[in-house]
Amino acid sequence: MAAVPGFVVASLLVLTYLAITCNGNVLLSSLKRTLVLTASPKQGKVLKAGEDTITVTWNLNQTYPAGTDSAYKTIKVKLCYAPISQVDRAWRKTVDNLAKDKTCQFKMVAKPYNPSNKTVQSFTGTIERDVPEATYFVRAYAYDFDDKEVGYGQTTDAHKSTNLFDIHAITGRHMSLDICSICFSAFSVVSLLGFFIAEKKRTKSSEQK
Ligand SMILES: *[C@@H]1O[C@H](CO)[C@@H](O)[C@H](O)[C@H]1NC(C)=O
Repeated sequence: MAAVPGFVVASLLVLTYLAITCNGNVLLSSLKRTLVLTASPKQGKVLKAGEDTITVTWNLNQTYPAGTDSAYKTIKVKLCYAPISQVDRAWRKTVDNLAKDKTCQFKMVAKPYNPSNKTVQSFTGTIERDVPEATYFVRAYAYDFDDKEVGYGQTTDAHKSTNLFDIHAITGRHMSLDICSICFSAFSVVSLLGFFIAEKKRTKSSEQK
């Protein structure tokens, strides 16, 4: 009798595993570059995280046949590490399997895909403060109704060598962190002193007794 539930549990586990891996196995190399994507930063431009804005535009490349975008539901635009900022950093590695890819870690925006017009859509946003200092390009993925990647576009060429820009962390952030740690150190020194003084007083008063 006990073998039956065990078998059921095992098959459920296997099915779940299969469902997860099958869903996650979209390869970038299997996607068509159907989106024409532009971003405002010029090649070599230096932008400040938390301050500067990026404007991106996208539309369907009209050389693809009608209906190419029939499954497109959402467009997600992401900041992606350029190869130069991936060297020796396994946590930024490019993997063809998009479920494992670490190239594009910073979402700029997700917007519903607008199928009725072929006009250019756009978005302008400030670079998030937590975007690390590195060299980037922009990529957009089209997702279908199952939230699977079905097409993409990027601002750089296939070798990721053109239209790259730099993002620098703003110094203000480091300053406030520094001020914070100074305050904390001062606080701990003061409380330590306070503790010693109290301890001294206590021993003194007990010696007097
Ligand atoms: C549109 O797609 C074609 C075929 O893939 C490509 O040759 C062309 O450069 C693309 N156009 C733009 C503006 O990206």
